This record gives sequence, structure tokens and C-alpha cells, in this order.
Amino acid sequence: MTSTDHSVESDARTAYLGRVFDIRDRHVLVTGAASGLGRAIAEAMVDAGANVTLVDRDAGTLRQLADEFAGRGATVTHAVCDVADADAVEATVTEAADRFDGLDVAFVNAGIPGAPRTDAESRRLERVQLDDWERVIGVNLTGALNTMRAAASVMRPRRSGRIIVTASTAGLRADPMVGYAYVASKAAIVNVVRQAALDLAPDQIRVNAIAPGPFRTNIGGKRPRTPESEATWARTIPLGRMADPEEIKGLALLLASPASSFMTGAVFPVDGGALALSHAL
Ligand SMILES: NC(=O)c1ccc[n+]([C@@H]2O[C@H](COP(=O)([O-])OP(=O)(O)OC[C@H]3O[C@@H](n4cnc5c(N)ncnc54)[C@H](O)[C@@H]3O)[C@@H](O)[C@H]2O)c1
Repeated sequence: MTSTDHSVESDARTAYLGRVFDIRDRHVLVTGAASGLGRAIAEAMVDAGANVTLVDRDAGTLRQLADEFAGRGATVTHAVCDVADADAVEATVTEAADRFDGLDVAFVNAGIPGAPRTDAESRRLERVQLDDWERVIGVNLTGALNTMRAAASVMRPRRSGRIIVTASTAGLRADPMVGYAYVASKAAIVNVVRQAALDLAPDQIRVNAIAPGPFRTNIGGKRPRTPESEATWARTIPLGRMADPEEIKGLALLLASPASSFMTGAVFPVDGGALALSHAL
């Protein structure tokens, strides 16, 4: 084989990968985009050539991030919005869809942990605080529903779109490391994803969930990670470590792109084998 043959073959391979994962000029909206997984997902979309709307309630960080991405030549806009506020979400998504002539992909990602529960005692059922419960359900479940609903209302008339929800492995089994409100919100959103997948399938809208295991983000912001806390998490993971936000990007691109055209109503773990371990017990 000559070097010309090699380069033709490599061009064909690049073109094939480019086609399968092509999201260039698609409009992608990401909630919780200012930090952690949302930021990584937004960055993957920007780097793959999509037009991206960044949504978060943290105005300062959001603006900085939008400037950073715009500096790389991406078409990026941002909107400050609390996903727990249904009217604000509706207005934000509608405005973003108008700006980019539709919405192709919505990453429903914003989420919060429960109040810090530092020891097993504080995580007991009798200690569940209803104000904390309502706050977590309000963002992780109702906020996600608000975003899915607003996305569906702009996608359905065009009979296309993808909705990708960040759930959690904590929604798929009991998890002694997090609180009741968090596991409840994530378990419930998993079934909302399945329900929405059935509802929206006739309109060719795919709805899927990502179920991350422990990632190094700011989710427990008030509880800085320590070598001890990392080691505690790592013991629950067959791959023996927590993940970096970068490691969500491959699945995000898959679910946003034509490569996942026959996938809907599914939950995809990115968990270093944690769920496989719990099934083995
Ligand atoms: N980090 C993990 O280990 C992990 C594991 C499983 C699931 N998740 C889920 O991933 C998602 C992202 O979390 P993360 O780990 O990147 O956390 P993070 O705290 O680093 O980022 C969350 C972002 O969401 C924003 N946000 C929070 N509440 C909001 C609201 N009401 N309206 C708008 N924006 C809001 C925050 O400002 C922040 O920018 C969450 O849904 C979380 O439950 C995280």
C-alpha cells in the first residue's frame, strides 16, 4: 500500500467519524453549564462545532465561560435561569430556540446535592429534613421536568430533537453515601425519562439519561474533597477512582449525535463499574 493509499484511507475514516458524530451547527442547550459535568458537556459541544446556549443560575461564572468559549470561535449565548422556576425556564428555552431557529439537543443537567450529611447518623431516615427534601426535589426533579417540558414544546412541532438528562447511579440503587432526597429525585427522574421517551417517540424526539457515578466536580461545594473522602468513594468503584468531568464527554457526544439515532428511553451509566459491583452483591 502506498502513502497515497494510506492518506485516502485515513481521509475516509475521518469523514466517516465526522458524519456519525456530526453536531456541527446544531443548537445545543445545557443547564447547569457553569460547573462540573455541565461545563464539560458544553465544552464538548462547542469543540464539536455546535451552537451552544449555556444556562445556569450562577451569573458570574456563566458569563466568564461564555466569553472563554466565544474566544475559541464558537457561537455561544448564555442565560441566567433557576431551573426550579417553571416560567423562567419556559421563557429561557423559548428565547434560545427563537435565537437559533429551533433546539436540537437539550442537556437537562442542573442539580444539587442534599444538605451535607457527614456521618451515617445524620443520614438516617428519622433525620430527613423536609425543607431540604423540597429544595432538592424542586431542582433535581421539578427543575428537570420544567426543562424537559420546555424543550419538548419547542422540539415537538419540528418532529425532531434529543433530550439528555443527567440522573445518577444513586437513582438506580440505594446509596449510603448520599441522602434520601437526592436518591428520590434521581430515581424519579429516571422514570420521567422513560415516560417522556414513550410520549415523544412518535415525534422522533429521543430522550435518554446519563447515570454518572462519583465525578470530581463542585457538587459538594461546601464539603471540599479530601484524600480520605476520595478514598471512600474510590472503594465503591471497581476502576478504583473517582472520574474527571472530561470523562462524561464521549457519552454526551454520542447521545447528542446521529450515532445514537436508535437509542431512546435508556439510562447509560458512566460509573467505573459501580453498578456492576452492586449487581454482584
Ligand atoms: N459529580 C457527581 O459525582 C455526580 C454524580 C451523579 C450525578 N451528578 C449530577 O450531575 C449534575 C451536575 O452536577 P455536578 O456534579 O456537575 O455539580 P456542580 O455543582 O459542579 O455543577 C452544577 C451546576 O448546576 C448549577 N445549578 C444548580 N442548581 C441550579 C438551578 N436551580 N438552576 C440553574 N442552575 C443550577 C450550579 O450553579 C452549577 O453550576 C447534577 O444533576 C448532579 O446531580 C453528579
